Amino acid sequence: MTRLYGVGAGPGAPDLLTLRAIKVLREVDVLALPRSNDWGESVAWSIVQPALLESQAEKLFLTFPMNKDPERLRPALNKAMDAIGERLAAGKSVAFVTEGDPSLYSTFVYVAAEARRRWPTLEIEVVPAVSSPMAVAAVTGVPLADGQERIAIVPANYGVADLDTLLRMFDTVVLMKIGPEMPAIIAALERAGLLGRAIYVAKATMKEQRVVRDLREVGGERGDCFAMVIVAKKERNGVLMGVA
Ligand SMILES: C[S@@+](CC[C@H](N)C(=O)[O-])C[C@H]1O[C@@H](n2cnc3c(N)ncnc32)[C@H](O)[C@@H]1O
Repeated sequence: MTRLYGVGAGPGAPDLLTLRAIKVLREVDVLALPRSNDWGESVAWSIVQPALLESQAEKLFLTFPMNKDPERLRPALNKAMDAIGERLAAGKSVAFVTEGDPSLYSTFVYVAAEARRRWPTLEIEVVPAVSSPMAVAAVTGVPLADGQERIAIVPANYGVADLDTLLRMFDTVVLMKIGPEMPAIIAALERAGLLGRAIYVAKATMKEQRVVRDLREVGGERGDCFAMVIVAKKERNGVLMGVA
């Protein structure tokens, strides 16, 4: 068996791919490309494609329906692992490409765990990437933390009932996977007097990037699949504003 890579494609802009990601993606035999349904595009593939125009690698599209219950993912995961296993057994190297970083809310976390269970001696390498919270900090000019500050990263679609507590405990709160939770997020921010400190960002660094500084504008929308809210309690000199 050869090697399985988990390669982060970064948050969207093709030129935020790392040099190591490009090297690995150009060398492997198989690109395993997740998508959320059989007919839709793979976001990971759309990010890395411009760097791989000459690539002769096999493109193995793998469908993982979006679901909060890992057990509902099981049939798709088994099918994907069987397909990856066939390639590895034939001596091929496989790169599983993931949007953002492979170690943060990525299907690769499940893929790597299952690969270790199925093939204990397989070499697995993670190629890290610019993750979406870093991209959102960059495009909003809101630093995630400095000095002693603490950050919370919250998957909002699993519930935001404890958001009041989190907003008290942490200096910066990043709400990912917004789903239908925007009204509850806005209500908690209003209670904490922090609505004016929150920014909504969809598709950071992608062509369709959208930054909304008044959350009430998006209050009635279901959060974009690639959207998050960043709340930094402290006013700082914005890094984009320049310091005199
Ligand atoms: C399944 S997680 C994947 C996270 C990814 N592995 C990472 O490192 O950023 C998907 C969530 O990441 C966030 N996300 C990913 N890319 C984003 C982007 N370009 N702009 C804003 N949010 C993004 C959204 O909150 C989205 O619901």
